[in-house]
Order: sequence, then C-alpha cells, then structure tokens
Amino acid sequence: MRSVSRISEARAVLAQRRQQGRRIGLVPTMGNIHAGHLALLERCREECDYSVVTIFVNPLQFGPREDFSDYPRTLQRDREVLSGHGCDLLLHPSTEEVYGKSPELSTRVHVPELSERYCGASRPGHFDGVTTVVARLLNFAQPDKAYFGLKDYQQFLLVRRLVADLCMTTGIVGVETVREADGLAMSSRNGYLSESERESAPKLYRGLRGIADKIAEGERDYPLIASSGRERLAAAGFEVDYLDICNAHTLRKATAEDSELIILAAGYLGNTRLIDNLHLAIDPVPAA
Ligand code: PAJ
Repeated sequence: MRSVSRISEARAVLAQRRQQGRRIGLVPTMGNIHAGHLALLERCREECDYSVVTIFVNPLQFGPREDFSDYPRTLQRDREVLSGHGCDLLLHPSTEEVYGKSPELSTRVHVPELSERYCGASRPGHFDGVTTVVARLLNFAQPDKAYFGLKDYQQFLLVRRLVADLCMTTGIVGVETVREADGLAMSSRNGYLSESERESAPKLYRGLRGIADKIAEGERDYPLIASSGRERLAAAGFEVDYLDICNAHTLRKATAEDSELIILAAGYLGNTRLIDNLHLAIDPVPAA
C-alpha cells in the first residue's frame, strides 16, 4: 500500500492507474478505521481494481462545540489495518492541502432542504462541510465508484444528490451498516461511551426494530408510532434528538402511500451522539 499526504502525488498515481485501464474505487473516511469502514473497502475491492482510502478529519463538518479536537486520530494503526485489508493507496492530507491557506474563503457546496433536516437541523452547517469535502475528494480522485455507509443515511442521500446535480460520473454505492454483536452500529464515537452508556447503547437499534415490527404487523399511524418510539428511547436513558418515520428517498415524513420507508433516529447518551436507521419496504395503501 502506498501512503501519501499530497493530493498532487495521489493524483499522479491515479492518472497512471487510469491509463492502465484500472477501475478506481474511493472510500472517504475520517480514520480510526473500524469494521464498518473495512466493509466499504471490501466492497470497493470486489467491484474495482484499485482501492483508494482517504483519511481526513474535516474541520468544516464539526460545529464549534463539537468533538473536532478530541476526534480519535490513529493514523499509524489505521495504516497497518488498511494495508492488511488490501487498500492500494491511502491519502491522508492536511487541512491546508485540502482547503488551501484560507479555508474560510474557499468554495462551499450546499444541498438545499435535504441538508437542513434531521442531523442538519441539529448540527447547522454540518452537511455543508460534508458535501464540500466530498465534492473535493471526488474531483481529485475522479473514481469510477465511491463507497458510503448506509449508517449515515442522510449523508448517503446528500452525496448521491450532489453527484447528480454537479454532473459527476462517479457511481455512489451504499453499504449496509456493520453492527456489534448486540446490534450497536459501529462508530468511531462509540469509544466515547462509559461502561453503563455502552450497555444502554444497543437500545437505539432495538427501538428501531420494535418500530419496524409494528409497521410490518400493519400499524400505519406513523406519528403515533414515532412518538411512542421517542418515549421508549427516552425511558432507556437517551436524550432524544429525533426519531421519525420517513420516505426513504426524500426524508419527508412518511405517509400511507409510501412503500419505501426509513426510520431515522439520533440521541445522546451523556455527551455522545449516536445515530442509526432502519430501512423497510412495505405494501403501500393505494391513494383513495
Ligand atoms: P466516517 O465517520 O469516518 O465514516 C466513513 C464512512 O464509513 C462513511 O461513509 C460512513 O457512513 C461509513 N461507516 C461508518 N460506520 C459504519 C458502519 N458501522 N457500517 C457501515 N459503514 C459505516 O462519514 C464520514 O466519515 C465523513 O462524513 C466523510 C464522508 C468521510 C466526509 O468527511
């Protein structure tokens, strides 16, 4: 595995590989590599001939009171893990390398509406930071495919949207959420949880499963199901940020006509923010 910090160097390597006719796959991350990230790399290696992972803790997507400075930075270990899992090229650029000397003056990418709901409402500016950096990464690497986790479902929809709107040709692939044995979605932030918080954490996914079961049994009063889901989560010790049942394409609140639903949830255990979601396909009630 080649490991570089310069975008120009990575670009030169990729130009060569492209000339050799290799299909290039990109896996953007913020590092602290875990099994969730590795599932993206594995899928990338199945579908492409040359796998690029980026590690960049993107300051633009953290709010002023968020964990940018505490975010786990484990480059040495990440390098070993990625190398052991067949990554071909690791790019780990500095902030200046990505944004130049005046990040505050650089071009931003904003997806209206979709970026302002749910996680976007609780974390103003977060998704502008995500779409801005992802646009840069896709432009620098010009990969055939790029891989994103469905755990960050709203992020996945935003990336697909920005690629379509900016006429990019990269195929965006969503990869299923990798979970711990007890159902907790893997996340770099799980390491912040205390022992007792870690015990409560799987209740987030359990709550989503409970809601999915009710819908599968035929319940269709989505506002009522969601509000009882929020109550249950609060009783389990979460400070609930949101829990809603949405149309899986638009993230608008689901109606009886929708056939593809996503149950979205976010909540705090202590200071740690956890998110999760569950996708489900149902038979819609035909519009009268
Ligand atoms: P990060 O949180 O490091 O995640 C990198 C990628 O791994 C994202 O696409 C995320 O959805 C995916 N991922 C994380 N946990 C996962 C899990 N348990 N199962 C499957 N996939 C998982 O998301 C970001 O970084 C950043 O916002 C980024 C896209 C890199 C832009 O800065």
